[in-house]
Amino acid sequence: MIYIFRNMTIHLQWWLLSFVILQLISVIHASQVSENGMTTSVLLSPKFELGAGSVENKFYYNIDFPRGHIAIKEFNAEVVDQLGNPIPLYETYLHHWVVMRYYGLKDAEIPEGNGDQNLNMIPVRNSGVCGATLAQYFGLGSETRRTVTYVPDPYGIEVGNPGEIPDGYEERWLLNVHAIDTRGVEDRLGCTECKCDLYNVTKDEYGRPLSSDYTGGLDCCYDQTQCRLKEGFQSIKRGLYLRYKVKWIDWEDSILPVKIYIFDVTDTGKWVNDSTTLGAQPRCKIEYEVEACGASGVVRNGCIDTKKTSMAIPAGGYVVYGVAHQHSGGRGSALYGQDGRLICSSMPIYGQGNEVGNEKGYIVGMSTCYPQPGSLKIADGEVLVLESNYSSSQKHTGVMGLFYILVTDQIPNRALQGANHMQASLLWSNYSWAVAFVGLAVTIIVGVGYIRKNEIEGSYEPIIASP
Ligand SMILES: *[C@@H]1O[C@H](CO)[C@@H](O)[C@H](O)[C@H]1NC(C)=O
Ligand SMILES: *[C@@H]1O[C@H](CO)[C@@H](O)[C@H](O)[C@H]1NC(C)=O
Ligand SMILES: *[C@@H]1O[C@H](CO)[C@@H](O)[C@H](O)[C@H]1NC(C)=O
Repeated sequence: MIYIFRNMTIHLQWWLLSFVILQLISVIHASQVSENGMTTSVLLSPKFELGAGSVENKFYYNIDFPRGHIAIKEFNAEVVDQLGNPIPLYETYLHHWVVMRYYGLKDAEIPEGNGDQNLNMIPVRNSGVCGATLAQYFGLGSETRRTVTYVPDPYGIEVGNPGEIPDGYEERWLLNVHAIDTRGVEDRLGCTECKCDLYNVTKDEYGRPLSSDYTGGLDCCYDQTQCRLKEGFQSIKRGLYLRYKVKWIDWEDSILPVKIYIFDVTDTGKWVNDSTTLGAQPRCKIEYEVEACGASGVVRNGCIDTKKTSMAIPAGGYVVYGVAHQHSGGRGSALYGQDGRLICSSMPIYGQGNEVGNEKGYIVGMSTCYPQPGSLKIADGEVLVLESNYSSSQKHTGVMGLFYILVTDQIPNRALQGANHMQASLLWSNYSWAVAFVGLAVTIIVGVGYIRKNEIEGSYEPIIASP
């Protein structure tokens, strides 16, 4: 009897010890640091679980987020495991993450999957022209680790303004994470491009049959679908998180607010009715297909597929920042003004190695544009042209061509202020290089750990993509 009791206390001690360790780990996970008025909050999504070949596409309706009337200066994210180790893209492919802002009825539950029909939530969309289809404030995919997202001084993305939040509501943030586990799969690129045959999917998430010419895309890799594994591959499920980093400052009147516009190269400019599928189709389809250039027997433009569309910007202004979003195979994207002038061109950065942030064959970053303040103006109602290039040396399904720009009505009006601002943003970029350098060093150290691990497990294969 005494023996059992002693055993129980030992168990209890162990239990307490592991509990304390777990608590310490979670302290490491979420953190907040302030320096010179700028706060960096590192936060975690709820945990999701992935086994080899499986897909998670979940919506979290009320994530941790800095509160109050603030200006967001930077937003980035990556997938990490339970110990906080960054996960390489060839193990967990981050198809996309999207962060949306909304006003939620205080104390009201937000049932999952109700989206826009839910009266408990009033979405606060970006200023873009795609409406509910691309409503987010922030969102990237595999390129998130090496895409610069800071908003230069004196600009900021204004949120949490108490004067704008309706009575009885509070500002909340919704996160959607779409991740695909490609450990042990037969065709890495095929799984990341959501090829329907690899997922053995013939109906969409809602049970509606897919048309026979739909061979890949989000309708084939929805939540809980499974991509084909190599024969006999065994793996255990593991718990993962999206770790996101928000840099912000308290709102001040000297900060100039920016508007967010997201454009989509599949934008048709109007809603179209399609009798073969679902009836009315939204103007922005998000995804498209790139046919292989050999398919029709001719090689055109050195096997570059160029897709273009034009759309009017409701209200223009000065461009502060620009970046594109593309998938593997992407060869760059550009936004042009009505007169043909280049507003911003954004090129993919392909990984070259095995380490986290540099995974071979994947887009690990996109180049960005920071025009001189006040130098680049878009007129109200101006018709912009968006161009998205992909390599067509092989067929691609479910690719994307988005363009994200920040626009302001105001420029710092005094020359002095302008000069200070430029200096500040130069300092800023030096600082972000330092951060990037430390990040890279950490990445390499962690990456070496991964390579070692992979050598032991022998499970690493590069993605079969041809950038
Ligand atoms: C594919 O789906 C069909 C019908 O749902 C099912 O009968 C078949 O066993 C599935 N094949 C595989 C390999 O899972
Ligand atoms: C498209 O279809 C919807 C219903 O499916 C209908 O309400 C709408 O008027 C149609 N629009 C056009 C332009 O035909
Ligand atoms: C896209 O490809 C076309 C044709 O090769 C080229 O003229 C254009 O400059 C490319 N655009 C970008 C943004 O790379």
